[in-house]
Amino acid sequence: MSDHIVLETRGLTRVFGERVPVRALDGVDLKVTAGEILAIIGPSGSGKSTLLNLIGALDTPSSGEVIIDGTPLTQVRNLDSFRGKTIGFVFQSHNLLPTLTARENVEVPMYELRIGGKKRRARAVDLLDLVGLAHRADHLPSQMSGGERQRVAIARALANEPAIVLADEPTGNLDSATTADIMALFARLNQERGLTLVLVTHNTEVAAAAQRVITIRDGKIQRDVSMGSEIERELLLFKSSVLGQAIMRGDALPPELAAIAPGLSHLLEGV
Ligand SMILES: Nc1ncnc2c1ncn2[C@@H]1O[C@H](COP(=O)(O)OP(=O)(O)O)[C@@H](O)[C@H]1O
Ligand SMILES: [Mg+2]
Repeated sequence: MSDHIVLETRGLTRVFGERVPVRALDGVDLKVTAGEILAIIGPSGSGKSTLLNLIGALDTPSSGEVIIDGTPLTQVRNLDSFRGKTIGFVFQSHNLLPTLTARENVEVPMYELRIGGKKRRARAVDLLDLVGLAHRADHLPSQMSGGERQRVAIARALANEPAIVLADEPTGNLDSATTADIMALFARLNQERGLTLVLVTHNTEVAAAAQRVITIRDGKIQRDVSMGSEIERELLLFKSSVLGQAIMRGDALPPELAAIAPGLSHLLEGV
């Protein structure tokens, strides 16, 4: 991992509504290094999607700024073109066009860069090969499984070799085995291609696969933890377990656990 900052937010704030304003995001400062996998977790409504949409220039901040690869978004003349070149998106729903084959779907973002037909096709086939779907190139989305469709969506996100890929609950519609496959694919792309990934998830197992986990609450960054060691991963997983939740809530526990609960809850606070 280099120390090149590929994404930075400064005081990023988004207020929705006028009469009853909701501060969906409240002064978020964030730096993401090239080659990092960052997971954003937090309760429903905490501002995760709002943050991702602002980073991806799909929404405009009320105040503060987003800087992608050294360029403040406010200085970008043609946002559509900038977005197409610099950012890849993966959503919970794959959003593939149903009448296009896998290969044609992967080619879609390349039109923005006016890449010629031959090169477009070759690159799409390479990307499908990269995600293990060369044999599905001519299939329609309806002829593929949920996990395969999401892999096509990942290949499409990589179409223009973006500086950063943003994924909002990319495994939200998948079973746990397929979720593990998709996370393994992201990890391989990270290792082989230096993929920089910002991933929103409410699945702690997904988050534990990241190198860094940010917790958002009420539009603010509450915790920012580097998963430097196996212990931090295990603690994060334990935190979402029934027992971990009980300890965090301060529930009454059997005596043998009550004795160590204060120490554990302190440890869990840190992840
Ligand atoms: N377009 C919008 N208009 C009004 N309120 C919104 C809009 N988008 C999000 N919000 C509100 O902002 C808060 C954060 O939402 P969101 O970022 O979608 O949360 P999360 O993705 O963490 O579940 C919520 O209170 C939500 O109701
Ligand atoms: Mg959301």
